Amino acid sequence: MDITGRSALVTGGATRVGKSLTLALAGAGADVFVHYNSSAGPAEETASEVEALGRRAAVGGANLSDPAAAAELVAAATDALGPISILINSASGFPKDSLADATIEGFRSTLDLTLASPVFLTQAYAAALSGEADGAVVNVTDVKTRRPYLDHFSYVIAKGGIDTFTRAAARALAPRIRVNAVALGVILPPPGEDDFYAEKLAAAIPMKRVGGTAPVAAAMLALIQNDFLTGEIVRVDGGGHLV
Ligand SMILES: NC(=O)c1ccc[n+]([C@@H]2O[C@H](COP(=O)([O-])OP(=O)(O)OC[C@H]3O[C@@H](n4cnc5c(N)ncnc54)[C@H](OP(=O)(O)O)[C@@H]3O)[C@@H](O)[C@H]2O)c1
Repeated sequence: MDITGRSALVTGGATRVGKSLTLALAGAGADVFVHYNSSAGPAEETASEVEALGRRAAVGGANLSDPAAAAELVAAATDALGPISILINSASGFPKDSLADATIEGFRSTLDLTLASPVFLTQAYAAALSGEADGAVVNVTDVKTRRPYLDHFSYVIAKGGIDTFTRAAARALAPRIRVNAVALGVILPPPGEDDFYAEKLAAAIPMKRVGGTAPVAAAMLALIQNDFLTGEIVRVDGGGHLV
């Protein structure tokens, strides 16, 4: 797919990983709808950076803890920028819990934000992209779905659902819409943690360094641009899954 002139919706596109995906899409020629939840100011700043790259931008807030917000968000993006060809599901929570202390309420709320919202965003996006138009979805998942975290229990189950959803949606939406995912390892320290926290984790992986967001953006672009890839989950983890 040639990204030039396409419109994209990036959830959680205002900050950190999501911001780098927004700017990479704009750099490749896309107009971008920057979704945010609490980061209204950063969303406006990110939109200005998109415009500085010569592309159109729009911003919109939605609390995706309620998957019912998905259809309205896709409609807002379509109203602002025209048919959305590219959907990036990056917004997520990262709550701490374990099998021992998980609650039904917490588990449901994590599944709603991190799994159900991407599912219903993809449903609404595919329904809105009618006719002959082609499209690409990239989900953002976590390499830890293979060897799961013990202390982000609900989160890792939800991301495991994203892995399966990526494959199921790839089948359901082919051949018009391709659905792939990037599975991240040590990319940035989690919110509230410092660089030292991530560097300690990175010391244990083959590449021996924190990835930063650039390799994630490069992998996302490759998945969108390669028209024969669907149902693929690309690890961006410096070889962390090998050890
Ligand atoms: N950082 C890493 O090393 C790493 C590793 C593995 C996987 N990942 C995955 O990569 C993606 C981005 O990671 P990140 O570290 O940049 O995430 P992050 O800093 O935790 O940001 C999460 C994003 O999700 C949005 N969000 C949170 N709660 C929301 C809600 N209720 N409704 C709508 N949006 C909500 C936030 O929007 P606002 O800021 O507007 O509230 C924010 O943009 C996530 O899917 C994460 O699971 C990251």
